Amino acid sequence: MAKVIVTRAIPGPAMQQLVERHDVSVWPGELAPAAEQLRELVASADGLLCTSADRIDEQLLDAAPRLRAIATYAVGSDNIDLAAAAARAIPVGVTPDVLTDATADIAIGLLLSVARRLREAEAAVRAGKWGPWTPQAWLGADLNGARLLIVGAGRIGRATARRAQAFGMEIAFAGRDDDLPSLLADADVVSLHTPLTPATERMIDRAALAAMKRGAILINTGRGRLVDQEGLREALVSGQLGGAGLDVTDPEPLPADAPLLQAPNLVVLPHIGSATHATREGMTRLAVANLLAALDGQPMPHPAPAPVSASHA
Ligand code: DGY
Repeated sequence: MAKVIVTRAIPGPAMQQLVERHDVSVWPGELAPAAEQLRELVASADGLLCTSADRIDEQLLDAAPRLRAIATYAVGSDNIDLAAAAARAIPVGVTPDVLTDATADIAIGLLLSVARRLREAEAAVRAGKWGPWTPQAWLGADLNGARLLIVGAGRIGRATARRAQAFGMEIAFAGRDDDLPSLLADADVVSLHTPLTPATERMIDRAALAAMKRGAILINTGRGRLVDQEGLREALVSGQLGGAGLDVTDPEPLPADAPLLQAPNLVVLPHIGSATHATREGMTRLAVANLLAALDGQPMPHPAPAPVSASHA
């Protein structure tokens, strides 16, 4: 029986399979354990089931001499030093596919919300500011005929594109070899779906924001660090961007007094891309399958991608 640490209570019947086979301890806190607490927890662990909020770096791995399996409860593995895990022959598993549709739904939800100013309009109703119907109130942008640039043509990017096509949007994709500035200049909406790697970190920096069409909308359901957040705030305030919808920020949680939240036509969600009952249960199923396989000495069914460096991402 292996000792397994689970860094947060996770939903779904698949957890039972883990508990039946191994000695499982679940961190009781709602928030991620602090780095020092996590180091203590893994000191005698054979398996670790973590989330994207847990930082799995060299220091943590050094504190876990027995560790032989890491399953993250996420499709993104940017919180894990994959090279350091590989150097210790510790397999890392992720939860792909099961969250594709839920996350693409949130990307489109953010887009609709920003383009049609749903958050502002709803807030006005609650604030008693719903005056007589007028032809000029709450005017937004059409999706039909608008050009959507999907940055990152992976599963979630493609699922977002399929939804956007149904709205009549014209779709373009930006891959790692494309000339991003020229594609940005052509798009009415830019939606980020690329993994966070050394090469993609802050890919939407001030220069990229300036390259975007004036009044364009930025959607980010990937990772907060893909975007220069202060640059984004300035672009929204100056009107260079017409709006932004974020399901991810840097840091998370974003403090309620973060200057970004004062920017106009901005919708921020608390990283809920995968937050449906069925999706989270599916993520548990995959994470448990990864752990059980590795603890049995088998290959994980859903391994993390190979580590990338800045020059190869
Ligand atoms: C993922 O799966 O990567 C989601 O962002 C949850 O962390």
